[in-house]
Order: sequence, then C-alpha cells, then structure tokens
Amino acid sequence: MNELARRAPAPPRVGIVLGSGLGAVADAVEDAVRVSYEELPGFPRPTVAGHAGSAVLGRISGVPVAVLQGRAHVYEGGDMNLIRTPIRMLRAAGAEILVLTNAAGSLRAEVGAGSLMAITDHINMTGVNVLAGPNDDTIGPRFPSLRDAYDPELHTRLHAAADAIGVALHDGVYLAVGGPSFETPAEIRAFRTMGADAVGMSTVHETIVARHCGLRVTAVSAISNLAEGMQDEPPRATWRR
Ligand code: HPA
Repeated sequence: MNELARRAPAPPRVGIVLGSGLGAVADAVEDAVRVSYEELPGFPRPTVAGHAGSAVLGRISGVPVAVLQGRAHVYEGGDMNLIRTPIRMLRAAGAEILVLTNAAGSLRAEVGAGSLMAITDHINMTGVNVLAGPNDDTIGPRFPSLRDAYDPELHTRLHAAADAIGVALHDGVYLAVGGPSFETPAEIRAFRTMGADAVGMSTVHETIVARHCGLRVTAVSAISNLAEGMQDEPPRATWRR
C-alpha cells in the first residue's frame, strides 16, 4: 500500500489537482487529513508561490477524494518523475477519475479573465513527453491512445454541474508550453492558427500519465488573463499570489 493510500481515511475515488491560486478548493474537503508532500515519497517540493505542496484527503459530497495542492512543472527542471509519481500513486490508491485544474491565458477575446473553460483536448508544445524512457508494461502500454483523453462523459457531467449552479463554462483546446517565459505575440498567433483556445504551463503531462495508467480525466482552466498580444498589459503572474 502506498503512503497516500495509507494516510487516506477511505480509498480515494477521485483525485483533484489544484492549479495556481486554486488552493482554496481544498477547503471543501470534509474530515480532511492534510499530508505534506515532504511525507509523500517522490512528490515534488513546490518552488512556486501559490502551490502549497500538500495532499488533502477526505470527502467532498460523500465521495472519497485526494486533493493535491501543488504540482511539478517542466520549467522547474524537467524531472518528469515528479509529474508521474503523484498521478500513479493516486491510481494505485484506488482512484478512477482525475480532475485537473490550472490557470491559463485565453486566446479568445470573448473568454476573458475570470472565465472557466472545460478542456476538450490538448496540444503538447512543451517539447517533451512524460512517458519518454523505459515503459513499465504493468502500469500501461508503450503507445497509449490519447483519443478522448478528456473523458466525454465526464465533460457532459461537468457542464450539467455548471448549469445546475448557474456558472458559465466554455469549452476549448488547451495548449501547453514548457515555460517559464510567457509566449511571444507571434507564438500566440501561431497557436491560434493551430487550434488552441487557452495556453498554460501544466496539465498535459498529467493527462498523459493518467490515461496511460487508466484514469479517466476531466480538466478545467481558470482563465487568468488574455494571452500575450491581446491586451495592453503583458501577462503577469498575478494569479501566483
Ligand atoms: N501563458 C502561459 N501560461 C499561463 C498564462 C499565459 O498567458 N496565464 C496563466 N498561465
């Protein structure tokens, strides 16, 4: 039994990864047990403000969950084990579903800061793949499919939940860059031509690892800014407070 499973009051059914500035979602966890990443072997030591670095284990609306506050990014040094381990540990602890969240820049002028966007598909422009290297066939296949990587049924449920509470939820394609520099205006124009609706520095690798090990994935971007070149001010990391 892994450390996450050992510390959880009940085996988590759903894993939730909180993006920058979204840590307050963990307050919704009932009977919460908070475990610092320092106590979880192979978990990242967050280096970015706004990423707490703890797992909150408990229930939301009766469903056993593991909420991960803090994640590793490619720009922190490229140790992909730090992205693989937490997701695989969630799976091994019993999770079936992974909910990913992030802060992202919007490429659509009508989808401004404060909007929410359900991710329907992704484009990985980080220059790396989290599954590169030897494959462990007991975890998943060498060449996993990414068709319907963002689970269509969970996507429908996400919209039903948003409708039920009167929250507008856009749909779109999330494009990931490695960072940490923001994009150039020319890159943003190129990414729009490629079909991207939002740009960020996370999520795609977690989705790939999750699909590889058989987790169903759903993901939401919290739009923190319009992408570079679309507003007077350059994007700033104001969401990382
Ligand atoms: N670009 C990349 N990552 C981001 C952005 C952006 O504009 N906003 C939030 N994360």
